[in-house]
This record gives sequence, structure tokens and C-alpha cells, in this order.
Amino acid sequence: MKNIVYIATSMDGFIADSHNNLDWLTNLPNPDGSDFGFSKFIDTIDALVMGRKTFEKVLSFSEWPYKKKVFVLSRTLKKVPPELEDKVEIVSGDINDIISSINKRGFFNLYIDGGETIQSFLKMDLIDEMIITRVSIILGGGIPLFGNLDNQITFKVLETIKLSDNMVQTRYVRGN
Ligand SMILES: NC(=O)c1ccc[n+]([C@@H]2O[C@H](COP(=O)([O-])OP(=O)(O)OC[C@H]3O[C@@H](n4cnc5c(N)ncnc54)[C@H](OP(=O)(O)O)[C@@H]3O)[C@@H](O)[C@H]2O)c1
Repeated sequence: MKNIVYIATSMDGFIADSHNNLDWLTNLPNPDGSDFGFSKFIDTIDALVMGRKTFEKVLSFSEWPYKKKVFVLSRTLKKVPPELEDKVEIVSGDINDIISSINKRGFFNLYIDGGETIQSFLKMDLIDEMIITRVSIILGGGIPLFGNLDNQITFKVLETIKLSDNMVQTRYVRGN
């Protein structure tokens, strides 16, 4: 049972720019059309847990990109578009309760997505692994991946790979 982050950040640690855009990430040169290991990663997880703001961003894409079940954390959202009713569920409440009820339903390895959401999980030390792709751009502002924590959290580096001239990907696992 693992909660895993897979996310891209700027060199200065932002996951979206100050206009909530991802162009700095999606417009990177990619002549081979590679997904840089994303679909292989998706094969290893059972479901996604994402924040409402990330969900709304994904809804703006031309098509729904996930084949796995998506749980959307929200205290405000009441329903999802009808075409996603069998793919997406809204959840709210205590994070530990949410995760244990998702695990009880057979979804064990969870992909945790969205900055505020990841920060909520980190506050409770609920992240086991992080795969962070760092893009070689300094955005100067935007939505941060990390925020304040009451306690430090240490991770071990499993590997770092250069994905392209603009991206380095590091895999971290919880541990000292
Ligand atoms: N670079 C990347 O790889 C990447 C990946 C993912 C997202 N993004 C970008 O990041 C931005 C969104 O991230 P974000 O940090 O703004 O927000 P987020 O984590 O996606 O969503 C935050 C919202 O999730 C809900 N939420 C979070 N924790 C909760 C909890 N414990 N209980 C109940 N609800 C909870 C709340 O929704 P309510 O207000 O409805 O209660 C909160 O406003 C978007 O621009 C997206 O494109 C980038």
C-alpha cells in the first residue's frame, strides 16, 4: 500500500505558473512524442487521488486522460460531469479516513496529485514515494509544490535520470 506523487515542477518549485498555466511544461520540445515513463507509472497504480483544482484543470483538456479510477478531494464540489460518473468520485473528510476507505475498496497504490493536496498528505506524513520531474525553467512565481510543515520529512534518492535537455526526474522514497 503506497501513496505516490508523480509531478513536474519548475527549478524554483512551482507546479503551475502565476496564471495557473502549464505551457512551460506542455510546450517543451519532445520530437519523439515520449511520455517520459508516465504510462508505465500509471500501470503501477490502482487509482488517483487529486485535488479539486487539479481536477478542474484536467477537465479543460481535450479528453479525459485516465483509465484508472479518480477520487477528487473537495469540500465544495457536489457532482461530476455525467460522462465521468463511473470514472470519478468526490470525497471529503479526514484524509486518513478517506485513504483507508479507498484502500478497503481494493485500491492500494494511490497516485496523489495537486499541490495543496500533496501538502495535506505531507503534513500527515502520508507520502511514501515521490517521482519529481524538474524542468529547467525558473518561473518566478506560481502554485508551489511544497509548503510549510511542522516537522521535517526525509526521503532517500532511488535514482535520477536525465529525460531530455530540459528535464531531470528523481525518484525518492520515504526513509532516512
Ligand atoms: N506540474 C504538474 O505536474 C501538475 C500536476 C498537478 C496539478 N498541477 C497544477 O496545480 C494546480 C492545482 O493545484 P493546487 O495546489 O492549486 O490545488 P489542488 O491540490 O489540485 O486542489 C486543492 C483543492 O482540493 C481540495 N482539497 C485539498 N485538500 C483537501 C482535504 N484535505 N479535504 C478536502 N478537500 C481538499 C480543496 O477543494 P475545495 O476548495 O473544493 O474544497 C482544495 O481547494 C493546477 O494549476 C494544476 O494544473 C500541476
